[in-house]
Amino acid sequence: MRARFLKSSYRLFWMPTSELPSALAHRFGGRSDVFSAMDRAKAEARRHHGHHLIDLSLGCTDQPPPFQVTAAMAQQLGQRSSATYCLHAATYPLRVSVAAWIQRRFGVTADPDTQVLLLVGSQEGTAHFPLAVLEPGDHGLILDPGYPSHLGGLQLASARIQRLPLRPEDGWRPPFASLSPGERESLRLMVFGFPHNPTATVGAQDWLDEAMTMAHHHDILVAHDNPYVDLALDGEAPCLLRSPGWQERGIEFFSFSKSWCMGGFRIAFAVGATPLIQALKQVKAWIDFNQSVAIQAGAMVALDHLEDWPVHLRSLYRRRRDHMVQAMAAAGWPVAPRPMALYLWDHLPSVVGAMDSLSFCLRLVQDTGVAFTPGSGFGTAGQHHVRLALVAEEPRLTEAAQRVGAWLKTL
Ligand SMILES: Cc1ncc(COP(=O)(O)O)c(C=O)c1O
Repeated sequence: MRARFLKSSYRLFWMPTSELPSALAHRFGGRSDVFSAMDRAKAEARRHHGHHLIDLSLGCTDQPPPFQVTAAMAQQLGQRSSATYCLHAATYPLRVSVAAWIQRRFGVTADPDTQVLLLVGSQEGTAHFPLAVLEPGDHGLILDPGYPSHLGGLQLASARIQRLPLRPEDGWRPPFASLSPGERESLRLMVFGFPHNPTATVGAQDWLDEAMTMAHHHDILVAHDNPYVDLALDGEAPCLLRSPGWQERGIEFFSFSKSWCMGGFRIAFAVGATPLIQALKQVKAWIDFNQSVAIQAGAMVALDHLEDWPVHLRSLYRRRRDHMVQAMAAAGWPVAPRPMALYLWDHLPSVVGAMDSLSFCLRLVQDTGVAFTPGSGFGTAGQHHVRLALVAEEPRLTEAAQRVGAWLKTL
């Protein structure tokens, strides 16, 4: 059987379906392979270890959303309007709530009509945005390591990808100054986000200011992915809307997934320069209708009435972080505390020598039933790192650390 792989900017070609997976792996740079290999290994470990599997590999919280949010959704669910397609105009009430939240939170004015757009998750927004603003072959910059949809979005848009490697010795600060004048000149878009997944670095406002200044001088667009804006454990998370120039060339992506534990409801929003919001709106008009108004009703309650709710999440993740750092040290693999909630990120233990992060995580989950995320899933700079998501209660975290420690002794 033969299948056709269509993409206007790629040569149209025919290939046997058996060859499609490797052709796609090549096109998507191998990172999707890392996650699917881990998925297979976890499924196998689940069969083997059953409920003893401790999955710390997904940044998806174990905490419930606020009950006021689900109550508002439930109340709205029976309405006919919740089951119909939701056109852009019907998202206006939530866009007004967004603009009011932006004003209170950052002291920034955004027009809910032209500068705010609802998304089906910030992942969706960052993945579609390059399609809205780039021509095939345009240059786009991402951080390495970085969140997979940043790379995926550039690939979907057939962009040429410039990776900016982050280094622990720089405190994971993006070395924008290392870009040559030619590289700066050729860039059309930069996509990145702080607080940063996977390094769990909070970042600082002057990092974004530096990016915006460079963007201004070289006519580059800046897309800042900020779903963790409420999850800085030390200091204040940076925000692109506080950097001068966002109204000309910036767009920032926010989410309900992390701050209000609503990841499964798939709702988020972008705030940005009017032409960028309008371009993304156009692309999305071809791709999706908006989330149901029932889900929007819950999101409005979060913004209008539960702005401070994420504070309790910070306390919870801080406790878990400190607990896990101690448990890992006791297990013989000291892992440094990170200033951002939800994740730990560290180098592989020295006992594993030159083993890469994927081999390490595959063997770990197979032998112990504990799943961490291989750093290589976020880019080659993560090759020898792992990410641990603090998405289990403390006794489970202790057990995970003990199993890992016992396993390391056998190597
Ligand atoms: C940097 C980053 N952006 C986006 C997302 C996905 O957010 P959403 O659920 O809003 O799509 C995640 C989830 O882990 C993330 O880490």
